[in-house]
Amino acid sequence: MIISSSTDYREAARRRLPPFLFHYIDGGAYAEHTMRRNSEDLSDLALRQRVLKSVGEVDISTTFFDEAVSMPVALAPVGLTGMYARRGEVQAARAAAKKGIPLTLSTVSVCPIEEVQQSVARPIWFQLYVLRDRGFMKNVLERAWAAGIRKLVFTVDMPVPGARYRDAHSGMSGPNAPLRRILQAVTHPAWAVDVGLLGKPHDLGNVSAYRKQKTNLSDYVGWLGQNFDPSIGWKDLEWIRDFWKGPMIIKGILDPEDARDAVRFGANGIVVSNHGGRQLDGVLSSARALPAIAEVVKGDMTIFADSGIRSGLDVVRMLAQGADGVLIGRAFVYALAAAGGAGVENLLDLFAKEMRVAMTLTGARSISEISADSLVRAA
Ligand code: FNR
Ligand code: LAC
Repeated sequence: MIISSSTDYREAARRRLPPFLFHYIDGGAYAEHTMRRNSEDLSDLALRQRVLKSVGEVDISTTFFDEAVSMPVALAPVGLTGMYARRGEVQAARAAAKKGIPLTLSTVSVCPIEEVQQSVARPIWFQLYVLRDRGFMKNVLERAWAAGIRKLVFTVDMPVPGARYRDAHSGMSGPNAPLRRILQAVTHPAWAVDVGLLGKPHDLGNVSAYRKQKTNLSDYVGWLGQNFDPSIGWKDLEWIRDFWKGPMIIKGILDPEDARDAVRFGANGIVVSNHGGRQLDGVLSSARALPAIAEVVKGDMTIFADSGIRSGLDVVRMLAQGADGVLIGRAFVYALAAAGGAGVENLLDLFAKEMRVAMTLTGARSISEISADSLVRAA
């Protein structure tokens, strides 16, 4: 199969993965309206073509806090990444490090913090949810710090799990789910051997290390559901702000008032995100929510954005809407599932190339030259 874009990787991932995993990745909440709008609203932003601006070589490198990055991109935290490719978090972290960007390790990764960080020289980032179990939160934060991790992404848009209709249909959950998953595995032998057999242990590595017992993956949805806590507010999180000595980035901000609260809280950054349309269907796309948020907090903190980014052109669009950097989720997961770490490396090369073309033809020599003027304003 010829691969020239993240769309090709999605198709390749669809073929390789058992359907319950593909649809878990690919799907969103309820009717998936917000999920679709994330990509469509980005595509609808018209880049403003400028010519003969003596652009020459474009420089797509920048910094995230004190960290030099080859382009304004980080890999988003994605739960169960080790089920999409053999020890998937390690493969993705190596690919990201090789290409000069960070990977954010999910709380609910298959590979534990230590396994992933020990496999790369570049410090990874760690993502934590707001959970009921403070002991667990403290334990993973201590382990992350001890491993050399300094950037914490704190996800706040999961007080309850979103309803994902596809999961019940695909065998991720619903009636006879374990049996259906086994049947799907045997009919996808390349995955079954590579990941199913050779990718063990399959558990929530960070949770197992804390509980000192293996966390069965069939508990995944249950464990998450039991541990989210909708009663938590900003005040309850102050201990984490004090506990964590490195930059803290609040993920899941979609409203300017919440962005202001994040500044007041003392966050160093936010991720403007609707969780890839996986939480509340019907909310604004990130691309549309971003300008009003940037208006109130730009300069006070680092603004990241995610949800719907499928190419380097989309990265430029998000930056033009006011982001300092982006996280990419499904785009890298499809590449990882389809072709492992080599797929992620290739995807990042494609993103870099697409960014360079977009910047050359919009007349931006460097990341700081991408602005609202890089887009055609609607008449
Ligand atoms: C996610 N996302 C996510 N976010 C988070 O903070 N912790 C997590 O464990 C996960 N897990 C997860 C699993 C899967 C399969 C997906 C697709 C997404 C959300 C993720 O970090 C990011 O916000 C979205 O993926 C961005 O949207 P796009 O780029 O996938 O459209
Ligand atoms: C998800 C959770 C794990 O989006 O963040 O599936």
